[in-house]
Amino acid sequence: MLRRGVIVAFLLLLVFVSDEFESCSSQNTSSEINRKSFPQGFVFGTASSSYQYEGAVKEDGRGQTVWDTFAHSFGKIIDFSNADVTVDQYHLYAEDIQRMVDMGMDAYRFSIAWSRIFPNGSGAINQAGIDHYNNLINVLLAKGIQPYVTLYHWDLPQALVDKYNGWLDPQIIKDFAVYAKTCFENFGDRVKHWMTFNEPHTFAIQGYDVGLQAPGRCSILLRLFCRAGNSATEPYIVGHHVLLAHATVANIYRTKYKAKQQGSLGIAFDVMWYEPSNNSSEDIAATQRAQDFQFGWFMDPLFFGEYPRSMKERVRGRLPTFTKEEAAMVKGSLDFVGINHYTTYYGSHNNTNIIGVLLNDSLADSGAITIPFKGLKPIGDRASSIWLYIVPRGIRSLMNYIRQKYGNPLVIITENGMDDPNDALKPLKDALKDQKRIKYHNDYLTNLLASIKEDGCNVKGYFAWSLLDNWEWAAGYTSRFGLYFVDYKDRLKRYPKDSVAWFKKFLTAV
Ligand SMILES: *[C@@H]1O[C@H](CO)[C@@H](O)[C@H](O)[C@H]1NC(C)=O
Ligand SMILES: *[C@@H]1O[C@H](CO)[C@@H](O)[C@H](O)[C@H]1NC(C)=O
Ligand SMILES: *[C@@H]1O[C@H](CO)[C@@H](O)[C@H](O)[C@H]1NC(C)=O
Ligand SMILES: *[C@@H]1O[C@H](CO)[C@@H](O)[C@H](O)[C@H]1NC(C)=O
Ligand SMILES: *[C@@H]1O[C@H](CO)[C@@H](O)[C@H](O)[C@H]1NC(C)=O
Ligand SMILES: *[C@@H]1O[C@H](CO)[C@@H](O)[C@H](O)[C@H]1NC(C)=O
Repeated sequence: MLRRGVIVAFLLLLVFVSDEFESCSSQNTSSEINRKSFPQGFVFGTASSSYQYEGAVKEDGRGQTVWDTFAHSFGKIIDFSNADVTVDQYHLYAEDIQRMVDMGMDAYRFSIAWSRIFPNGSGAINQAGIDHYNNLINVLLAKGIQPYVTLYHWDLPQALVDKYNGWLDPQIIKDFAVYAKTCFENFGDRVKHWMTFNEPHTFAIQGYDVGLQAPGRCSILLRLFCRAGNSATEPYIVGHHVLLAHATVANIYRTKYKAKQQGSLGIAFDVMWYEPSNNSSEDIAATQRAQDFQFGWFMDPLFFGEYPRSMKERVRGRLPTFTKEEAAMVKGSLDFVGINHYTTYYGSHNNTNIIGVLLNDSLADSGAITIPFKGLKPIGDRASSIWLYIVPRGIRSLMNYIRQKYGNPLVIITENGMDDPNDALKPLKDALKDQKRIKYHNDYLTNLLASIKEDGCNVKGYFAWSLLDNWEWAAGYTSRFGLYFVDYKDRLKRYPKDSVAWFKKFLTAV
């Protein structure tokens, strides 16, 4: 998971909050649900990503990535840490897979590090990288765990930035396609669920608009913050190339591999739910715009062949356009919609132009403000991350929004979870008591179930973020999202938190 850019937004935006209302919460918090409450074949798993989990950054010919560069740049990571070792799943995968088996999980979502397969992003294949993922996939399958594989979870080979600025250049579409094809060729006989991208909205905004994640480009705040970048144009260029790269890869998969390999291809989107701050038509319209700029940005081209009208009207000449052929290729290129969902905010209309002047970016373009407060009253309980408020009803609203707007496509919840602080003073036995996490998963799953059973939403899977505590991007090791506690001071030993027993009971109920 993700997003410190929200913090910048916060600091700027808190200033503008004025209205205070009672929040009317109708969240479904009934308990006593388990696997059996869900439709047959519903898939449960945990999710991870290569850079946050693997470590072994210099082993077996892996090439450097933008995140290695970023993490080793002074002041970018809150605790001055890096992911050179992190939880060392590169070596410890077999025992971690046994942990999934013990809990009764069906599937594991992980990502392939592009720079282990192509150390320079393109060119020669590194056989040791292929071997590693073959071993991982084979152990998963031998233990009855289905691999759900993300091709791009942010760890772009640094060589492609040095060569042509990565996602800003259309050459990346070709290089990504070669990498993806190599993965289908080598792993597709066993991998049946692919995600081309993880959270394109997040890496476009965090990496190229607010600059808080790799490669750290931006021009906001009078250009004081980043060395290079253009927040008014680059995020849209990145998003455009991501859509074209996805569609190109989907086309390759469908024409060359799908008939034989029988798999499917999706994207894992980061999607907060937004509730209008009040029922004024201005706030309702602003909330819709916020959703357009977050989710519609990618979903509308994929389902309707064009960007949302609100984006075209507001971004105008800075929003790239699709040719007829490109639009036709992008439209319909998803087999399933992956949703990384954590939290819900209030949306309201921007009532000042200070934001526009200071930021001149996608947030200013949207003309919408999204924050987790009404006046001083938070929308829900907070997890450790400053952006993560617990609002279980939001997942049900989001599922219904997707059903209604996009024609009830197949949805998989590819991430959902919450974090506790990494508190060095807390005794281990207390750190393992994670009632708050248990309640989080119980309440979100209960609302998800209601969206399926009562509203008819087409949801087929749920992946908890995350199996283990791990390296949380710019938040480093300050945040613990795991069902398992990782002792960073004692050989990365894993200890089950109480949520492990909860999931085991949930998944093995008879
Ligand atoms: C990657 O690029 C470097 C520098 O150009 C080169 O020395 C190296 O051989 C390349 N590695 C591969 C695997 O292509
Ligand atoms: C915002 O950025 C765009 C693109 O660089 C530029 O054309 C425009 O003048 C900027 N607007 C303001 C208000 O700075
Ligand atoms: C907005 O209207 C809906 C439907 O009438 C109501 O349920 C909701 O509580 C209202 N929200 C606010 C913030 O007034
Ligand atoms: C909604 O909020 C706006 C500004 O925050 C305020 O002017 C308006 O009166 C509110 N509308 C309702 C229906 O409460
Ligand atoms: C924000 O609101 C102000 C005042 O209503 C308006 O002048 C400005 O154009 C708005 N900015 C955007 C990007 O909608
Ligand atoms: C809560 O969820 C349960 C299980 O799906 C369902 O039976 C119940 O009707 C839901 N209640 C509300 C208020 O949504």
